[in-house]
Amino acid sequence: MAELDPKAMYKLSYGLFVLTTKLGDKVNGCITNTGIQVTSSPNRIAFAVNKANLTHDMLLESGVFNLSVISESAPFSLFERFGFQSGRDVDKFSGFEAYALDSVGVPYILEGTNSYISGAVYQTVDLGSHTLFICDVLGSYSLSSSPSATYSYYQSNIKPKPSSFAVGDSVGSLEKTSRTVWRCTVCGYEWEGEELPDDFVCPWCKHPKSDFEKIVS
Ligand SMILES: Cc1cc2nc3c(=O)[nH]c(=O)nc-3n(C[C@H](O)[C@H](O)[C@H](O)COP(=O)(O)O)c2cc1C
Repeated sequence: MAELDPKAMYKLSYGLFVLTTKLGDKVNGCITNTGIQVTSSPNRIAFAVNKANLTHDMLLESGVFNLSVISESAPFSLFERFGFQSGRDVDKFSGFEAYALDSVGVPYILEGTNSYISGAVYQTVDLGSHTLFICDVLGSYSLSSSPSATYSYYQSNIKPKPSSFAVGDSVGSLEKTSRTVWRCTVCGYEWEGEELPDDFVCPWCKHPKSDFEKIVS
């Protein structure tokens, strides 16, 4: 039988992006770590978007996008604004000034990014929980020389450090615990209880149980 070590999946490296779109008068976007260039001639990129995201539905209908490449200078607030809340509940661009609109009115992000890629959806693939959008690149623009943030850079340097210890950390004496919390290693969402249900999905960033760590305090 094939071996499945979930830690091997963590070794894949990812970039981080703000994926934005516009439908009618509404602009919206979400954080994604799944942007890749898939072909160079024609120039195409692809990203997978969770069907629960408003950005997903808007993108399916509008067919136009911008992918702003997040850099190491990005503040955590950029992730909070675009990754921890849905455009179904809030206007993510309200009170936010660090963006501009491209020629078709899709926003791109000016703060904590180093470039953006604009284009149109070429093809979609239904992946169950997500849709894979394969897109034609119609424009690409540099904004700064700050290095691109990897997902692992985000985990180590941008995401605030946990206030408690993760189970398994070498912290000496943790025999007595009064509270068990499961923390999403992607966005920091906390769920209190002894055992996280197998089908649990983070309500903020939609990542599965395997992305949670057990915290005792
Ligand atoms: C670091 C990070 C990475 C994420 N990666 C993805 C991703 O690859 N695909 C995805 O669909 N959502 C991803 N998300 C979750 C969405 O950004 C999040 O669910 C967002 O609130 C959706 O907003 P919307 O409903 O306005 O589209 C990520 C969130 C964070 C914080």
